[in-house]
Formats: sequence, C-alpha cells, structure tokens
Amino acid sequence: MKTIVICFSAEQGKTRKIAEALSRGIGADLFEIRPEQPYTPAELRWINPFARCNTEKRKKADVPVVGKVENWDEYDTVYLGFPIWYYAAPNVVCTFCKGYDWSGKTVHIFATSGSSGIGKTAEKLEPYVKGAVIADAKRVTSAEEIGAF
Ligand SMILES: Cc1cc2nc3c(=O)[nH]c(=O)nc-3n(C[C@H](O)[C@H](O)[C@H](O)COP(=O)(O)O)c2cc1C
Repeated sequence: MKTIVICFSAEQGKTRKIAEALSRGIGADLFEIRPEQPYTPAELRWINPFARCNTEKRKKADVPVVGKVENWDEYDTVYLGFPIWYYAAPNVVCTFCKGYDWSGKTVHIFATSGSSGIGKTAEKLEPYVKGAVIADAKRVTSAEEIGAF
C-alpha cells in the first residue's frame, strides 16, 4: 500500500511548501486541493465580513475542487495538510474529503496557522473522513515537525 500527501494552501503557499518537503522526505505522492475558483487576496480578507471566505463559512458552503486523486484505493496512509481557518479546516478541505471513501485509511493531519494551535481541528474534520483513523493532528511550521522522516 502507498502513502499520499494532500494539501490545500491559499495565502502564501506556506502549507504547500511543507507538503512538498514532506512528500519528498517520505517519497510519497502529492495532490494539491485547488478550488475550481481560486481565491483572490481580496476574497481571503477575513476582516471584511462580506469577503468570500466569510460568506462561505457562514453558509457552510461546499467549495468545488479541481480534479480527483487517481487510484485512491491504493493509498492506506494520508497526510492531510491545510491552513487553519476559523479554528478549523477550510470548507474546501471538507468538500474534498466528502468525495472519497475513507474507510481503512490512516490520516495524519498537519496544519499551519497565524497563531492558533491545532485545537479541535481534527474533531471537526472527523465527520468528513468517516471510517478513517486520525492518528495525529499537529500545527507545524516545518515538514520535520510532522515526525514522518
Ligand atoms: C479565512 C482565513 C481564516 C483564518 N483563520 C485563522 C485562525 O482561526 N487562526 C489562525 O491562527 N490563523 C488563521 N488564519 C491564518 C492562516 O491559517 C495562516 O496564514 C496560514 O499559515 C496560511 O497558510 P497558506 O499560506 O498555506 O495558505 C486564517 C486565514 C484566512 C485566510
């Protein structure tokens, strides 16, 4: 069985850089979650109550994703990385997760943030990865901190 690193990254590519280093470090495939409609900087300005990020959050909106992971069934271990938005995974990560059967997978969550700790991020994501075991969830600033290599 195989391992895949899956990441979403929006603002400065912080999470993507960590995901890339992780996938290189452990020799795993990499898939980037990209929204069909990419976020502009203005859409991410959470201090504006009408910014896209805030309206999506309020409406619990699904955010459609470009493409699919090929041969999903071949993976038994998933490293899932994203920036913490509002103390949780961004909606687009939840939409991505809904599109797959997670049974039997082991999931390692890693997240970047401005300052928040991991908090209840994993618990909030659990309903979207039903059947998987979330082995750990860490807020990190580097791939090394994930502890996979
Ligand atoms: C809509 C939105 C909500 C955010 N919410 C939080 C938060 O609750 N706590 C926090 O510490 N940082 C928060 N941030 C900051 C991001 O988590 C942080 O900048 C992240 O490392 C960016 O990663 P990226 O460059 O991969 O997108 C938020 C950023 C955005 C755009």
